[in-house]
Amino acid sequence: MSQSVSNAAICLQGNHVWFETNTSGEFNAPIGAVIRQVVSGNVLLLDDEGKEQWIDASNINSVRPMHPTSVKGVDDMIRIGDLNEAGILHNLLIRYQENIIYTYTGSILVAVNPYQLLPLYTTEHINLYTKRRIGDLPPHIFAIADNCYFNLRKNREDQCCIISGESGAGKTESTKLLLQFLAAVSGQHMWIEQQILEATPILEAFGNAKTVKNDNSSRFGKYIEIYFNEDGIMQGAKIEQYLLEKSRVCGQAQDERNYHILYSMLMGMSTEKKKLLSLGTAHEYDFLTKGNCTSCEGHDDVKHYADICSAMKILMFADSEQWDVNKLLAAILHLGNLHFQAAMYDNLDCCELMESSHLSMATKLLEVNPLELENAMTHRSILIRGESVTTPVSKAQAAGSRDALVKGIYDHLFVWIVNKMNTVINTLATNNPGNVCRSIGLLDIFGFENFNSNSFEQLCINLANEHLQQFFVRCIFKQEQAEYVQENIAWQQIEFTDNQKTLDTLAVKPMNIVSLIDEESKFPK
Ligand SMILES: Nc1ncnc2c1ncn2[C@@H]1O[C@H](COP(=O)(O)OP(=O)(O)O)[C@@H](O)[C@H]1O
Ligand SMILES: [Mg+2]
Repeated sequence: MSQSVSNAAICLQGNHVWFETNTSGEFNAPIGAVIRQVVSGNVLLLDDEGKEQWIDASNINSVRPMHPTSVKGVDDMIRIGDLNEAGILHNLLIRYQENIIYTYTGSILVAVNPYQLLPLYTTEHINLYTKRRIGDLPPHIFAIADNCYFNLRKNREDQCCIISGESGAGKTESTKLLLQFLAAVSGQHMWIEQQILEATPILEAFGNAKTVKNDNSSRFGKYIEIYFNEDGIMQGAKIEQYLLEKSRVCGQAQDERNYHILYSMLMGMSTEKKKLLSLGTAHEYDFLTKGNCTSCEGHDDVKHYADICSAMKILMFADSEQWDVNKLLAAILHLGNLHFQAAMYDNLDCCELMESSHLSMATKLLEVNPLELENAMTHRSILIRGESVTTPVSKAQAAGSRDALVKGIYDHLFVWIVNKMNTVINTLATNNPGNVCRSIGLLDIFGFENFNSNSFEQLCINLANEHLQQFFVRCIFKQEQAEYVQENIAWQQIEFTDNQKTLDTLAVKPMNIVSLIDEESKFPK
């Protein structure tokens, strides 16, 4: 009785309420709504998703009052009155609807991807957020960068920003904004700052691709450490890369592309140079067409290629090195067009390479002997009692060898490019190893993925993300609460979902899913 009385009291036109949805989905939380009309105890709601619906007077208990902080929204979610999942989602939503994409949760910044260029990142914004305390101004990614920089200088302690979120959430864009801010406040407008900034487009050209989740999806993880001297001036940086998705070089899911650089090279390279490499258009290459998608909306491959060439110049890639990179990329495309046909030899299943000009071109570019390459793909050598025995392989196995070779080439190329850039931007470590500098680290990995069909790559990506989530759980909940208990602070334990069990199942030794896969894959099929 008392519940319906209080509900009747809140059910006035214009009031904001929570409404229980009772959907049986993964994310089941009440939804925010505003009361449009009240007729004889029946209530018309307009909910956060824009849907109107009548709630019968008999069902009025499914409607609860909304705290004023949820009606107006708050800058820092610590101040939400309705501190639950619904309250958090609603707060982010109503701010997002006004293009306010940043919100604090204490010292954490939550960013919602606006998918449009907002006027938030101008030089004025950089100046505005420089040397300000967090909370003085509306939440902003620059405030986080400024806070890092301030702590680095004041406390003389290394800093680190960890960016997490599912694929397409905006992690890589946020990393670039953090870098942009740090380069600006370091304030020297030096060559090294420009070199550090120009490393990003190169990494993205070779390590990013269009997926169904994100047109510019990072297919590798990176950790950039930026070094500052005593005066807070940027001195250099070091890039670490993790786990490039090699399988993409040989095949892509429907509506996805291979790495940007391959399409950009074909679109942007001069006709004369393409002729030297015997290159045509993207449609002609098997490795570029597995996803039936060779262009990417909003991604100008011609301009992109020019930008990458100039970025490589800035990062001191010699013309001959750039040419060698192109040669390897071209060789990969030619190798992808090699096919095998089944044959029989001495009653043994074997295969032979189908006649193609791509073989001579690939071997010329790789500077290897055509016959040797052909043999390497169509045969297998195993050691038996110290002696090498060579047997022919099937058509499918030969294609597998071709793909393994291509993946190996691309992976080595990617690692070489990162190392090459490090020798240029990490000048301090290279020139005077004794020099002590403070650093700010930025972690930007591939985000959590869940496609219709998931493979080994998704397992690896999601395992990395589970580890990141565990780090978060440990810092925010476990360590914090343990400290309160240790200091005898009156404190009500907060319930949280610990993903440790998931991690154990996936990767805790000796018995876990990863080691089972490892063991299985050691046996020849
Ligand atoms: N702050 C932002 N402002 C405008 N657009 C953004 C912003 N963050 C992300 N985007 C858009 O979303 C896309 C995906 O973001 P990205 O950073 O690549 O995601 P993630 O690295 O988390 O997978 C970008 O290509 C860009 O179009
Ligand atoms: Mg990314």
